[in-house]
Amino acid sequence: MPDAFTADGATVVVTGGASGIGYALAQRFLREGAARVLVADRDPDRTRNAAIELGERAHPVTLDVTDEDAVASAVASIEEEHAPIDLWCSNAGVAAGDGLGGDADWEASWRVHVLAHVHVARALLPRMAERGRGHLLVTASAAGLLTQLDSAPYSVTKHGAVALAEWLAIRYGDAGVGVSCLCPQGVHTPMTAGDGADSATRLGGAYLEPHEVADTAVSALREGRFLVLPHPEAAEYELHRSQDRDRWIAGMRRAWAKLRGAAQGGTRSR
Ligand SMILES: NC(=O)c1ccc[n+]([C@@H]2O[C@H](COP(=O)([O-])OP(=O)(O)OC[C@H]3O[C@@H](n4cnc5c(N)ncnc54)[C@H](O)[C@@H]3O)[C@@H](O)[C@H]2O)c1
Repeated sequence: MPDAFTADGATVVVTGGASGIGYALAQRFLREGAARVLVADRDPDRTRNAAIELGERAHPVTLDVTDEDAVASAVASIEEEHAPIDLWCSNAGVAAGDGLGGDADWEASWRVHVLAHVHVARALLPRMAERGRGHLLVTASAAGLLTQLDSAPYSVTKHGAVALAEWLAIRYGDAGVGVSCLCPQGVHTPMTAGDGADSATRLGGAYLEPHEVADTAVSALREGRFLVLPHPEAAEYELHRSQDRDRWIAGMRRAWAKLRGAAQGGTRSR
């Protein structure tokens, strides 16, 4: 188990922090007493506005997480100008590609959902290991434990995110660096705003609000857990998948056939 993380007095960075789950994480860590939260996102105006809304302990950082040099200089300058980073929430994400998608969808998904976590791991985890403390929270998805039937690029790269987070947890745990992996099912955010009744994300059941996801993340970090499951039933689905892969695939085929029926009813949105 990673060491427990508590936000009180901490320096926290949240990528994708200007919206949805990232914004809720930033808000919740501030409420938990974080000394500062760096809200990192790619659009300068949205990032600045989010930090203003979050209050005086929030600071905007314009950052494209797919730019490795920019990530490395953000890590260095945050640590120089503020304090050593206690928690980096690698949360930015994109919804790219319907079905098998095009190569550009795979490229975008790979860069944001996998390489961005590699970039921050290279820049920050050696610093944390040297200090013997620190935590990385990777936002993957239940799609990374199970699947996401609407989008192959999303599903496959989120599997990559889970695998990378596990690898980092194993390799850095003995150095005092904790790694956790946040795997929600549906959450009401701008990313899912266009989901119709037939969206595959709805297969997982009810959508949560971002603040509920943030609540689960804070508790799981406090308890030092690797896997953060705002929808606890995802653990059960994953168990079924691992116990009998053929049966699980057959069940998912039935679910897809049902969704296709709903799509013919005309509610499909992405
Ligand atoms: N909403 C859901 O149902 C759901 C479910 C499971 C996992 N997730 C994951 O949660 C994370 C947050 O998603 P959300 O639902 O809050 O979506 P969102 O669209 O509200 O927020 C995503 C944020 O990431 C930022 N971003 C995208 N690419 C970036 C880049 N290259 N550099 C910096 N910032 C970038 C966007 O600007 C945006 O502010 C994502 O990783 C997403 O895949 C979401």
